[in-house]
Amino acid sequence: MTGKEFMLAALEAISHSIIEHEEHLNHLDNAIGDGDHGTNMARFSRIILSDLPELSAGNGDLGEILHHIGMRCITEIGGAAGPLFGKFFLQASISNIGNTSMDAANWVLAFDDGTMGVSLIGRSTEGEKTMLDALFPAVRAMQEKLEEGLSLPEIFLAGATAAENGVEFTKTISANKGRAAYIGQRSIGHQDPGATTVMLMLQALHKTAIEMNVK
Ligand SMILES: Nc1ncnc2c1ncn2[C@@H]1O[C@H](COP(=O)(O)OP(=O)(O)OP(=O)(O)O)[C@@H](O)[C@H]1O
Ligand SMILES: [Mg+2]
Repeated sequence: MTGKEFMLAALEAISHSIIEHEEHLNHLDNAIGDGDHGTNMARFSRIILSDLPELSAGNGDLGEILHHIGMRCITEIGGAAGPLFGKFFLQASISNIGNTSMDAANWVLAFDDGTMGVSLIGRSTEGEKTMLDALFPAVRAMQEKLEEGLSLPEIFLAGATAAENGVEFTKTISANKGRAAYIGQRSIGHQDPGATTVMLMLQALHKTAIEMNVK
């Protein structure tokens, strides 16, 4: 079971990780896009860090926090990633409005709903070299571990591992969504920046779950 403290610590860890990888994400996007993914995500992360005190003073409604993050994505991140990650958090928020705690099932449902939202507004699915190549396998892996009755750290670990494999998979395929689609076959060999961000997020969630010893 996790509450506001875990949610805010996880957001902090995610933000720090993205800021740390800003240049790397730009470098990845430079190879197949316009080189701004790290800049976009780092700008968003700095805003989230500055929002943390206000969120911490709030009523602890976890759905409201996720909704706030989604709105920040939409208003503060440029390009394709803003509305896409925005939709992820907005969809993830819906089943958690009014919840001051989230258990493993709540977390997996939030990821599932968020991923379906991205797929819907991106008009995209797995195998198109996008963030969905990390998200969909992560959701499947987390659902499997949830059904096995494993704890949240183990569920996040499974999600992070599946996302890492998803990132590797994006190297083997050509893009047909977003700017990377302009270079088509020449995108093969390069990993997708958006999928890489999803991997960083899940790794940070796992690390936070271990550090805070959540169940
Ligand atoms: N239709 C889509 N569905 C899902 N994810 C997408 C889609 N289009 C782009 N992406 C993701 O967005 C990432 C690029 O985000 P970025 O912050 O660089 O925005 P951008 O430069 O406007 O994007 P793009 O040039 O790909 O439209 C890609 O790596 C990919 O994972
Ligand atoms: Mg870009």
